Amino acid sequence: MSRDIEYRFHQQIYSCKRCSLWQNTKHAVIGEGPLDAQVMIVGQNPGADEDETGRPFVGRSGKYLTKTLAEYGIHREHIYITNIVKHISPKNRKPYPNEIATCLPYLQEQIRIIQPKIIVLLGTSAKETPRVEGIRYFEIIHPSAAMRFTKMREKFRKQIVELSEQIKQL
Ligand code: URA
Repeated sequence: MSRDIEYRFHQQIYSCKRCSLWQNTKHAVIGEGPLDAQVMIVGQNPGADEDETGRPFVGRSGKYLTKTLAEYGIHREHIYITNIVKHISPKNRKPYPNEIATCLPYLQEQIRIIQPKIIVLLGTSAKETPRVEGIRYFEIIHPSAAMRFTKMREKFRKQIVELSEQIKQL
């Protein structure tokens, strides 16, 4: 993708008012990582730290995710990481279905540009990500739930182990 097109795509998201979520937010959080990443991670939507910085998964659950992935040899700098919805929601509630549907074209474009081999879907909202033939999808517990509940944490770790096995085979 040329820098110009990338710039225009990003500007479109930064100034997006397609749903009402942009109100009372500081930043749209587009995503980050190499544009030729083989693995893409899709979360729910930004939290307070992400809204503040404009970067995905930099708060508590993001740090926990990054650390757990690294323990199994998956390094964040090799992954493109984004969310199904690009703005924080009021009181951090789950995005509504209409907000997800409205924001989806941005994620679809990101998938088209990056063409990852694996897409990791974190939590229930991310499951709405459209499926593209030839891409493997991996549904994993959201790290914020894994942080809170022991049972979930154990399952989360097992899922990351499985993911690391899949990545090794790429
Ligand atoms: N939770 C998410 O789903 N995404 C983020 O970027 C941060 C927390």
